[in-house]
Amino acid sequence: RLDERELLYEIGELAAKFYRNLLERNEEAAAARRYLEKRGVDRETAEAYRLGYAPERWDALARYLAQKGVPPEQAEKLGLLRRREGGGFYDTFRNRLLFAITDIHGRIIGFGGRVLDDSLPKYINSPESPIYHKSEVLFGAHLAKGAMREQGSAIVVEGYFDHLALYQAGVRNVVATCGTALTDGHIKLLKRYATKVYTLFDADSAGKKATLRALDLFLQENFPAYVVELTAGEDPDSFVKKEGVTAFQDRLAKARPVIEYFFRDLLRQVDIGTVEGKVRVVEELAPRLAKIANPIERELYVREVSRIVGVENRSLLAKIGRGAAPAN
Ligand code: CTP
Ligand code: MN
Ligand code: MN
Ligand code: MN
Ligand code: MN
Repeated sequence: RLDERELLYEIGELAAKFYRNLLERNEEAAAARRYLEKRGVDRETAEAYRLGYAPERWDALARYLAQKGVPPEQAEKLGLLRRREGGGFYDTFRNRLLFAITDIHGRIIGFGGRVLDDSLPKYINSPESPIYHKSEVLFGAHLAKGAMREQGSAIVVEGYFDHLALYQAGVRNVVATCGTALTDGHIKLLKRYATKVYTLFDADSAGKKATLRALDLFLQENFPAYVVELTAGEDPDSFVKKEGVTAFQDRLAKARPVIEYFFRDLLRQVDIGTVEGKVRVVEELAPRLAKIANPIERELYVREVSRIVGVENRSLLAKIGRGAAPAN
């Protein structure tokens, strides 16, 4: 089985080189090169990310791998080839710009492919495989590990281009979830390098949902997490392009703890002037406050929330079922 994994890594590497080479010099990839230029990606960055291009043919990779003596069944395991109904195999990625997905050591374990226009689906991604476990992999972690360690923090973004745009702007302690929900496996990975994390999801409803979902996990795992908010409608890539990296650093400096983000979001949704609104705030907040591991921090939030909602500290404490220091 060890041998199988080695073979899969080799196939990934072969495919990455094949796609990269096409993007760099093939006539077929002219539109992909224009697309990258339009998005402001420079050559060095393209090299660092090992960007590639999958041509608009059904058998470009299939033929190449056959030439190299790779069993197609193995490439199928990586999701690079798919089985044709009448027999034989065809390429999964066609006419797409490809991001190489790597493990923490930089070994190729999959690809994410973007269309060059507005057609759907916008991205397709490699599936889980013996070498790609999505719940343990964060995109760009191998490019970020040094910076995460140096700075002690990690920034979590949603997308491939967000990661790339920040990297190109010199912000290097960044990883991307790329469409998957954050897991405790991801948190474990982040904890190896950083002591706190910034969530920087898109400023739209999907991003907000992702932020709120991540909140419980960060509290659960007792990992200090802060929310960075961008101008409505932007993502890190578009924000840095429009407003620049200084404005970005400014937003980062203004990041608030996840629990505060949650509280403020709640206050926007409910009418705190009504009993019903107050009850809802307490109901939603109490289980989250209960998860704050640091007792001092927990107590301070309890006081703050009690004051704003207009209940006694001890009522809220009773609700979260986790007292402050006993009063004896
Ligand atoms: N994603 C995906 N499949 C989709 C849409 C999104 O896997 N059909 C993942 C990709 O990793 C994508 C991330 O979710 O990068 C965030 O999605 P979105 O914000 O929609 O895309 P962007 O990253 O902003 O892509 P772009 O800037 O190219 O539009
Ligand atoms: Mn594994
Ligand atoms: Mn998004
Ligand atoms: Mn986005
Ligand atoms: Mn984007």
